Amino acid sequence: MRARAEAGVWRVLGELPRLIATALRVSWRADRVRTGIVAAATIGSGLMATFGLIATQRVLVELFAGGPTPDRVRAALPAITLLATAAMIRGMLSITTSYAENGLAPRVNSDVERRLFETTTAVRLDAFDEDSFADDMERASRGTDSAIDLVRGTLNLMAGLAGLVAVMVAVVVINPLLLAALLVATVPTAWSTLSVGHLRYQTYVASSTRRRRLFMLHRLMAERASALELRGYGLRGFLLNQYDRVMGAETRTQLDLARRATTRSTAGSVIGGLAGAGVYVLLGVLLLGGQIPLAEAATCVIALQAAQRSLSTVTYQVDRIYIEGQHFADYTGFMDRATGHMPAEPGAAEPGPLRTLAARGATLTYPDRQAPAVRDLSLSIHSGQTVAFVGENGSGKSTLAAIVAGLRVPDAGVVTWNGRPLHDHDPSLLRTRIAVVTQDYHRWPFTAATNIAIGDVARYAVDGGLVPDLGRIEAAAERAVAHGMIKELPYGYETLLDRTFAHGQDLSGGQWQRITAARGFLRDADLLIMDEPSSALDPRAEYQLFQAIRDRHGAATTILITHRLANVRHADVIFVLDRGRLIESGSHDELIALGGRYAELFALQAAGYRAAG
Ligand SMILES: Nc1ncnc2c1ncn2[C@@H]1O[C@H](COP(=O)(O)OP(=O)(O)OP(=O)(O)O)[C@@H](O)[C@H]1O
Ligand SMILES: [Mg+2]
Repeated sequence: MRARAEAGVWRVLGELPRLIATALRVSWRADRVRTGIVAAATIGSGLMATFGLIATQRVLVELFAGGPTPDRVRAALPAITLLATAAMIRGMLSITTSYAENGLAPRVNSDVERRLFETTTAVRLDAFDEDSFADDMERASRGTDSAIDLVRGTLNLMAGLAGLVAVMVAVVVINPLLLAALLVATVPTAWSTLSVGHLRYQTYVASSTRRRRLFMLHRLMAERASALELRGYGLRGFLLNQYDRVMGAETRTQLDLARRATTRSTAGSVIGGLAGAGVYVLLGVLLLGGQIPLAEAATCVIALQAAQRSLSTVTYQVDRIYIEGQHFADYTGFMDRATGHMPAEPGAAEPGPLRTLAARGATLTYPDRQAPAVRDLSLSIHSGQTVAFVGENGSGKSTLAAIVAGLRVPDAGVVTWNGRPLHDHDPSLLRTRIAVVTQDYHRWPFTAATNIAIGDVARYAVDGGLVPDLGRIEAAAERAVAHGMIKELPYGYETLLDRTFAHGQDLSGGQWQRITAARGFLRDADLLIMDEPSSALDPRAEYQLFQAIRDRHGAATTILITHRLANVRHADVIFVLDRGRLIESGSHDELIALGGRYAELFALQAAGYRAAG
């Protein structure tokens, strides 16, 4: 990305044809009829401009001819009619263009943006762990707006070029020397416009990280989520100070850009203006020397002005295409990059009810980490079992849970469902058989009912919304000790759980955790993984939740991750992890008898309770 920003203007110009082709394809895909209309009308309008110029020349030739004035006007009439017709058609075409374009823009925008979201929601989870993925994504979303501008710019450029070619032909016919003069008059301005555009884009890319930091600071200082801690820790001065530093650097960059841009464009304008004056002097000399007649000189002045208009249109459009093209390249580049993070071709096997879930030599190392989070780990879990993953913070429990659930793909090793690798199975069917309550659960800004219903979205999704079946949702909430608490909310299950909206409510940490547990219980999944489901629960709620989990025993399979070891006593097998390795496994009694890590952790916790008692 950065390399491209530093590449010369020529290289980026070289990339433009491909980008323009992509943008036109995007537009064509979004709306064929309107794209066709806009293209035809824009080019037609360019042709009409040429006709207009030819007609003007003929009008002038007739008017400057010898003879009485009424005769000259009469002789000029057909050309005047042609001129008026061309102007009228041009006007109509321009109305057609803007009408079609107004309909095209929203369609192209939504099409491009939807594709971005289709991608960001499909990439594998590990994409988000990658360096600068978020940065690229931010620029890609800016690039979505560029598609339509690129299309518009391209069509206007074509119109400008058509006009320009016509004028150039006219000028060459009159006197080739004038063409050279014309180029001298316009190239400096064109070049300075382009180089200012390049400068602007370079600055934009260079300040991308800074913009994201500013955006983050904006949220930290203005949003509800951080308001309490901001006050609790007295972070106001600290954050404002950070803002001043980042914003100060940004302002300096912008001022520097403004200074350099002004210098360049002023230089371009001055040189261009001097050269323009030179062209008129040349014309005057030719006229005085009798090399061109008056009618031709007059046409020439008009043609020159038309040429300058067309050239400035062309320059402006090239500049715009250039800038928008680079933004659009961010979009296409991100989409290309994201393709590398797409899940492997999905399998089609029907997973069937769980009999055995096994991991063989599973290893996963996060990007930019030396040590694997899960290392050469093998285990088997059988249908109806309740098993537990236990270990100190950072020992790899959540990572292992994500691997077993098929949410992360191990770098080495394999996870099998009834003996077949997870990736052989149809992923959507597999998802319906696995429910995961994650440790860092998300507080979805929906109603309480919907917050639970998303645990079984396939069943409740109708027309893009969720139509919850309250009976089952209440039953799930009951098992997660959430029912009574939801009933007490101002609008019961219909209470919106987002305080930033009118009538929205917030919940306590433990209350949220009950809701997420209900999400896990909603569909009786073959495999339920609960990662720290009770860390915020009060003792009574915790007792009831684990009672509900125990009720699954024998009927369905459950993986529990918890630091409260009293809750795993009943587990069929306890897997103890240390730095990504499986160091012990067995039932509670076996592990206590072994006197290893589990026994040590259990004794520590039990001692705490005894001391307190
Ligand atoms: N997205 C990530 N990118 C990089 N490293 C990660 C990421 N997630 C976890 N880690 C690292 O991987 C290791 C295992 O993390 P994991 O979350 O699996 O531990 P855990 O056993 O669940 O810990 P806890 O008891 O605190 O929940 C840790 O060293 C952690 O810092
Ligand atoms: Mg964890």
